[in-house]
Amino acid sequence: MPETKLKVAFYGHVRQYHNIKAEIDANMQEVLESGQYVMGPMLARFEKELAEFHKTKYAVGVGNGTDALWLTFMALGIGPGDECITTTNTFFATAEAIWIAGGTVVFVDSEVRTNCIDPAKIEAAITPRTKALVPVHLYGQCADMKAIRKIADKHKLLVIEDNAQAIGAHGDGFRIGELSDAATISFIVQKNLGTFGDGGAVVTNNPEIDRIVRKLRNHGSDKRSCHSFGFNSRLDDLHAAILSAKLKHIHEWSNLRRKWAARYNKGLAKARNITLPYETPGYRHVFHLYVIETKKAKHRDPMLQFLNDEGIDAKCHYPIAIHQQEGYPWKKQARIAGPVPNSERNAACCISLPMFPELTEEEVDYVVDRVLEWDRSAK
Ligand SMILES: Cc1ncc(COP(=O)(O)O)c(C=O)c1O
Repeated sequence: MPETKLKVAFYGHVRQYHNIKAEIDANMQEVLESGQYVMGPMLARFEKELAEFHKTKYAVGVGNGTDALWLTFMALGIGPGDECITTTNTFFATAEAIWIAGGTVVFVDSEVRTNCIDPAKIEAAITPRTKALVPVHLYGQCADMKAIRKIADKHKLLVIEDNAQAIGAHGDGFRIGELSDAATISFIVQKNLGTFGDGGAVVTNNPEIDRIVRKLRNHGSDKRSCHSFGFNSRLDDLHAAILSAKLKHIHEWSNLRRKWAARYNKGLAKARNITLPYETPGYRHVFHLYVIETKKAKHRDPMLQFLNDEGIDAKCHYPIAIHQQEGYPWKKQARIAGPVPNSERNAACCISLPMFPELTEEEVDYVVDRVLEWDRSAK
């Protein structure tokens, strides 16, 4: 037992701010002094940087990652009667955005090791009404986009990547945004590229998606006083300023996340009662979350409690799968295609250990030590 109990936070927002305060403050000041705060030059600059980062032709800033999804669905004409296939093992917003657009959510199971959508389960879920596949790059690792692209080509389906969690990741020979119609991003504060509030974006190579999302986010307007049906979902210039400063550090931060993941992996390798995260060979996992699973579901809550009592802010992502939420599906259109045991197992057994670039060796080693202590005594 270590002599002192440490407090290990789940996020390091303030540490990160302090590390690059001068860059963030300078960018914010530039906006404040410019007098242009909405749809101004800082947003245009950040959109250009984001498109360059993804090697896509276009990037459009919007209000948040959920809006990025449903604005893209609407731009692609997805609406009532259209089925979109995704997994139940994701943050609620993936399904919510399909419902907001008026579509039908079709859930298939996730893969046992990566927890991303299992391409082998997709074809059986396809019907004449299927319009799109919506893979989620869960926890910071890409779904198997090559397999997903093949299925989409065969059945002439749209593909929208929910990339709220994996900016800077890549697959074995593919980039995010390369094998889909569009990829959506969330910049909520806890994401790998997070602003101090809400934000989101769509990246795409399709000029029509870019054009329509641009209009939809701004009251259906691309010219002053001229409108068609639309919404207000813009990325404010102050957020763009923060994100522009942070984007320059994203590779370095992903490397740090990978370093802490490797340290956890090494330290926890001999634990008997947990399963460690899996990185697909050739993929770059950026560990938005470092999610372990207890081998027995009955161990999860006591282990989480033990870690919390030891000062470690461990959490669960996501302990209640979408189809298990109370009141599901709230009179919305939804279908579960086949059993979903992997998603249900992950929901029942997952624990996210603290993971952010500004962790220290002492903190990571303390978490390892406490997990091993729990592991020794688990029955
Ligand atoms: C997988 C996934 N999709 C969508 C979202 C929605 O993003 P936002 O909170 O920015 O609306 C999030 C995160 O919040 C997410 O993790």
